[in-house]
Amino acid sequence: MKFFVDTADTGAIVELRDLGMVDGVTTNPSLIMKSGRDMLAVIAEICEIVDGPVSAEVVALRADDMIAEGRKLAEIAPNIAVKVPLTWDGLKACRVLTGEGRMVNVTLCFSPNQALLAAKAGASFISPFIGRLDDIHLDGMDLIQDIREIYDNYAFQTQILAASIRSPNHVAECARIGADVITAPPEVIRSLANHPLTEKGIAGFLADWEKTGQKIL
Ligand code: E4P
Repeated sequence: MKFFVDTADTGAIVELRDLGMVDGVTTNPSLIMKSGRDMLAVIAEICEIVDGPVSAEVVALRADDMIAEGRKLAEIAPNIAVKVPLTWDGLKACRVLTGEGRMVNVTLCFSPNQALLAAKAGASFISPFIGRLDDIHLDGMDLIQDIREIYDNYAFQTQILAASIRSPNHVAECARIGADVITAPPEVIRSLANHPLTEKGIAGFLADWEKTGQKIL
């Protein structure tokens, strides 16, 4: 399973990349706002930091305008994945942009039928939002399972990019189900290393080591 990091914080991307934990990056207008930086400049910098796909989201609502924005974003670097929303206009833009050989990430997916449409429109990635479904008391993980089954039934090549990931359990469940990619904030990726029994085990070993009076170095 590939790890994308969901952030426009270039320092965090570099840190995780150097550990081998970054196969790509996703951004959205809210993350750009949080970074306080110019979108085109920060996306260009991210594309130099990572070799994998970097999602940059359009903000237009009409297909023609999305296509124009998508072309401009795709000019930044060859590893740009143009992110379009899962609307009828977004699907039209997806079809045109993928036809031009560009990567397209269709985002804000909340149902199996939406994912089916994105695959038929030729999307490179479909982004189902787990956490936002959980927020309204639905089970976001059911959506990942449903899309995996549907895509496997028909051998669709669109990659499932599980998004809106909020916890280590989301990551483990996505891996179990077989999502192709997860995208998560840096703090969630870092938290995957944590386990209370690991902390407890280290404390116990160090206490006993002290009693030996030995040193390794
Ligand atoms: C993914 O592409 C989105 O940017 C992101 O996962 C949304 O996450 P949120 O629902 O926590 O904002």
